[in-house]
Amino acid sequence: MRFNSNVLGTAMPPLVELPRRAGELAEQGVDVIRVDQGAVDVPPPRAFVERVADALRDPNVHRYSPDPGLPELRSALARYAAQRLGVECDPERELIVTAGANQGCFAVMMALVEPDDEVLLPSPWYFNHAMTLTSLGAVPVPVPTSGEEGFTPTPDAVAAAITPRTRGLVLVNPNNPTGACYGDDLVRRLVELAVERDLWVLSDQTYHELHYGAEPPLSPATIPGARDHVVTAGSFSKSLGLAGWRLGFLAGPADLLDEVLKIQDCSVICAARAGQEGLLAALPEAEQHITRMRDTLRDRRDRLVTSLRAAGLETFVEPGGSLFLFLRLPGVADDMAFCHRLLEEQHVVVVPGSAFGPGGEGSIRLSFGATPTDRLDEVVHRIADAIT
Ligand SMILES: Cc1ncc(COP(=O)(O)O)c(C=O)c1O
Repeated sequence: MRFNSNVLGTAMPPLVELPRRAGELAEQGVDVIRVDQGAVDVPPPRAFVERVADALRDPNVHRYSPDPGLPELRSALARYAAQRLGVECDPERELIVTAGANQGCFAVMMALVEPDDEVLLPSPWYFNHAMTLTSLGAVPVPVPTSGEEGFTPTPDAVAAAITPRTRGLVLVNPNNPTGACYGDDLVRRLVELAVERDLWVLSDQTYHELHYGAEPPLSPATIPGARDHVVTAGSFSKSLGLAGWRLGFLAGPADLLDEVLKIQDCSVICAARAGQEGLLAALPEAEQHITRMRDTLRDRRDRLVTSLRAAGLETFVEPGGSLFLFLRLPGVADDMAFCHRLLEEQHVVVVPGSAFGPGGEGSIRLSFGATPTDRLDEVVHRIADAIT
C-alpha cells in the first residue's frame, strides 16, 4: 500500500513504549505510579450517568443526531459558552457539537490550511496540533517560550515568527504541557496582533475551567474586533470527567463552521447521541461539579509544588491552570532515557518533554489530574531519587 506522504512524515509521539512497559511491571506486582496521562479521576456528574442509563432504552438514542448536534444541546451549549467562556454565539449557525476538542481542532485545521501554510504554535506545544498540521501538509512553526518567562509567548516572539506564508495561530490556554495560564493582557495583545496580521486564531479551551487564579482566562473570541478571526474549541473530557464519551464543541464564524460541517459529515457524522443526551442533562450541574473538580485539582497542584520544592526540585513554573507541571531536569539532556530509567528504577511514568516539540527537551511533564495527594508526595520522592 502507498501511504499519504504527509501522514507518513508525521512523527508519532513517543508515548507508546513507556505505558506498555508500565503495564508489564504492574502485572508483575510492581507498584507503578502513572502521572503521564492527562486524565482526571473525578467521576462525571450524576445527572450525566442517570440520563445516559435512561436514554439507552429510547430507540432514538441509537440513531444519528443532526450533524451539528441535538438542537437543544446546541442551545444549552451556546448558553454555557456565553456564561462560562464569555463567548456569544448563535446556536444554529455558530456552534457545533464535536466528538471532543481534538476532533473539532482537526476539522477546523482541515477547513483552514493549504499545503505549506505555516501555523504558529507556542512551544513546547500540544503535539496533536502539530501532528494535525503536518498530516495536512502544513507546517507547525514553534514560537519559543521559556520557563523564565512563565512559558508565555511574547507578542514580539509571535511577530518574529510571522512570514508571508503564516495563516494562523493556535492558543492553548491554560496550557498543555506547561501549565501556563496566560494573563488577559497577553491574550489581548496576541489576538490583536493576529487580527492585525490577518491570521485566524484557534483557541483551544480544553482547560478553560481548570484555572487556579480567581478569574478564568480571557477567551480570545471576546476581544473586540476578533470575532470573525477566532474559533473556540471546548471539551468536556477534563472539566466534567467525560473523556471516554468524546464530547466537545466548536464556536466560531458561521462561514467557517459551514466548511467544518462537511468534514464532520464525512468523518464522525455526529458526536455519539447518548453522550449528547447525558451532557444536556449534566450542564445545569456543571458549575457545581467544576468547582469541586477545580478545588481537588488545586489541592493536588499545591501539594505537588510544595513537595517538589521541599525536595529541592525548583526548576518549574507553578501551574496556573490545566493538569500539568513541566519540570526541567537540570543536567539531563536525554529526557527520554531519563523517563525509561525513572520507570525501571523508580516505577514512575511521566511524559518526556521532547514529545512536546522544540523547547521540551530536558524536561518531563507530570499530570496531577488522577493521583491523590499522598501519592504525589511519593512521585516526588521517587523522581528526586532518580535525579540524584
Ligand atoms: C490542549 C488539548 N486539546 C485537546 C485535547 C483533547 O481533548 P478531547 O478529549 O476533548 O478531544 C487535549 C487532551 O489532552 C489537550 O490537552
